[in-house]
Amino acid sequence: MSQVVAIYPGSFDPLTNGHVDIIQRGSRLFDRIVVGVLINLEKAPLFTVPERVAIAREVFSEWSNVEVDTFDGLLVEYAGRKGAGVIVRGLRAISDFEYELQMALMNRRLDRNVETVFMMPAEPYTYVSSRLVKEVVALGGSVHGLVPDVVEARLREKKLARNILKA
Ligand code: PNS
Repeated sequence: MSQVVAIYPGSFDPLTNGHVDIIQRGSRLFDRIVVGVLINLEKAPLFTVPERVAIAREVFSEWSNVEVDTFDGLLVEYAGRKGAGVIVRGLRAISDFEYELQMALMNRRLDRNVETVFMMPAEPYTYVSSRLVKEVVALGGSVHGLVPDVVEARLREKKLARNILKA
């Protein structure tokens, strides 16, 4: 029987518990889920791509059907290379919908064999985003419970390093 492989693409800068929730749901639904960390040379990320990959691999070390990988170029071409017929995206609120609809329809136009599947995270994560996590940490707030422990620790290290550099 053929296996259903899904790609869960994103920036993951950093990985949040909302992402973790979607990956866990995907791993129960599909035979294999590949977390595809986008190599985006234009953005100025907080975490490097290798750091983001290492974090996700640590969080999912016990999940045998979760793979963490990187990609650049077109997502549908990457999906093809991985033998994936599904793209998973999380939908938190109506505000996500327009951007996600555009991407899903563009990806369908590029490859009609790749289907986008949207999943809702658990309610406590519906307002969590990587951008807000970074903002809260930069301004001295707590993100405990919103990101994996390893991410919280790395955020603290980054903040300390930045404060030392500023001093
Ligand atoms: O976590 P993000 O930043 O919302 O993820 C965006 C991502 C990685 C899904 C999107 O930027 C993407 O798919 N980039 C690959 C380039 C691509 O295929 N573009 C055309 C399809 S819309």
